[in-house]
Amino acid sequence: MSIIDNCIEFVKEKLQNAEAGHDWNHIYRVWQLSKIISEGEDVDIEIVELSALLHDIADAKFHQGDEEIGPKIAVEYLTMQGLAPKKIDHIYSIMRFMSFKGGHNEGKFYSKEFAIVQDADRLDALGAIGIARTFNFGGFKNNPMFDPQIEPILQQNVEEYKKNKGTTINHFYEKLFLLKDKMNTEKAKLIAKERHDYMLEFVERFKSEWFVNQD
Ligand code: ADP
Ligand code: NI
Repeated sequence: MSIIDNCIEFVKEKLQNAEAGHDWNHIYRVWQLSKIISEGEDVDIEIVELSALLHDIADAKFHQGDEEIGPKIAVEYLTMQGLAPKKIDHIYSIMRFMSFKGGHNEGKFYSKEFAIVQDADRLDALGAIGIARTFNFGGFKNNPMFDPQIEPILQQNVEEYKKNKGTTINHFYEKLFLLKDKMNTEKAKLIAKERHDYMLEFVERFKSEWFVNQD
């Protein structure tokens, strides 16, 4: 078995009881999208694939906000698998700096492999899947779907972003609608545009049905 095959089994096992928006199926989609974006690019595909597979191995928001736990588990695992230390370092950095966190991790690390996996993860937050994941997460947190009295908070610091107990519809304004302009690669920008437009239409319809508009 290759290191990738081993890693797939490891991740599936670890994420057995994960919330449906951050489970093996999310990892699978990010892994596949990462490979699609990598086509024709000069990258270390092993680093791309392993980073995609491991990127949510222990998400901070399900581990009392601990940002280090995921990268640490990945490093331990890859060391055990005998991957070259230089590659492990690279994967560690990708995992450590990939997350959105209200945009506060931006510019702290860059490589082509990082850019691709980050784009793939962000694409899975958009479109039909993005909508489904967002409502699933909101339900998991028992957040209200929508409340016209609660305004979206656009400029949040890291702590505010993590603690935000807003509505699921507000999450579209606070994060999802901002993602299309944050894509790193040309391929991801194209996919993002289409998924973005679909979400805009969804939110518009959601509100018109919520207020039971006559028009
Ligand atoms: P990152 O790890 O990059 O900071 P998240 O893991 O917070 O990003 O977001 C991944 C997905 O989880 C989002 O695209 C969204 O679907 C869902 N999600 C995260 N926070 C919220 C929230 N407050 N309300 C609804 N969905 C959320
Ligand atoms: Ni992810």
